[in-house]
Amino acid sequence: MPKFLTIDDFDLRNKVVLLRVDFNSPLDTETKEILDDTRIRSHSKTIKELSEKGAKVVILAHQGRPGSADHSSLENHTKILSEILNKNVKYVDDIFGEKAKETIKALNTGDILVLQNVRDFSEETKSFSPEEHAESELVKNLAPMADIFINDAFAAAHRSHASMVGFTSVLPTAAGRVMEKELKTLKKVTGDTEKPCYYILGGAKAEDSANVTDYVLSKGTANNVLTGGVVGHLFLYAKGLDIGETNVKFLEKKGFTELVPKIKELFKKFGEKIIVPEDLAVEVEGKRKEIELSDLPTDYPIYDIGPKTIKNMLQ
Ligand code: 3PG
Repeated sequence: MPKFLTIDDFDLRNKVVLLRVDFNSPLDTETKEILDDTRIRSHSKTIKELSEKGAKVVILAHQGRPGSADHSSLENHTKILSEILNKNVKYVDDIFGEKAKETIKALNTGDILVLQNVRDFSEETKSFSPEEHAESELVKNLAPMADIFINDAFAAAHRSHASMVGFTSVLPTAAGRVMEKELKTLKKVTGDTEKPCYYILGGAKAEDSANVTDYVLSKGTANNVLTGGVVGHLFLYAKGLDIGETNVKFLEKKGFTELVPKIKELFKKFGEKIIVPEDLAVEVEGKRKEIELSDLPTDYPIYDIGPKTIKNMLQ
């Protein structure tokens, strides 16, 4: 892993720091109320440190995508951050226009400002190179206002988006504390790992699951890969199990069925090293119901692994 700079490498007093965080949180899609503030809490430590070191902190973050049910402004996030830090955090409903620029210029030492949801900028989510994104309106307008770019948004680091990569070629760049901790952990778990080492792949974002499985089993980084969540039922489906029309449609909609040929190859290559769920949990009228693989196909959406799988994973 290449070396990276951290907050410790800069004198931040009176410097304008553009800080990219990942505040993207589960929302009540009706009221837009934030249901889990874990991400805001974890970034608050980086933000507090920057503010206490005398930086003028300008925060770039996103919530959902325009058109998605969880897309919202960052006003509620700002309120929660203010409560966590016990400090008035400012918010401006502008990303890089005059209003945002004037507010940045007026910041005092230690002030914290949250800009409007960066995904409201239409070019933000284009998958461009850092050099291409450096030419975006976002970077061309904000970079001259700032002294340093700090990226703390590890959870969005798989996206080559303007606010993630565009500033890196035009401003001195460092990792924030969340990013630093995650990168150090990643180094530990992708290198010469202590054995036995088990990778558990779960969650709803299964895009990279086949590549990660291939990588860690080919390199001998992991002894086994254990699958759960959507990854679990994708792998079961690739193994030939009929998981039911509802679940197949879900995988198709997400584009995950395209991974099936690759996963089939992985089963041929690594066999029992890839561990699939032995039982599952589905949702029936808002409640969890545990089912056996022999109960498949199911009309209900699969949401989780079942108790036998959990027990065996813990052994
Ligand atoms: C996340 O919550 O996984 C990140 O913020 C990335 O969000 P995205 O999948 O909408 O790009």
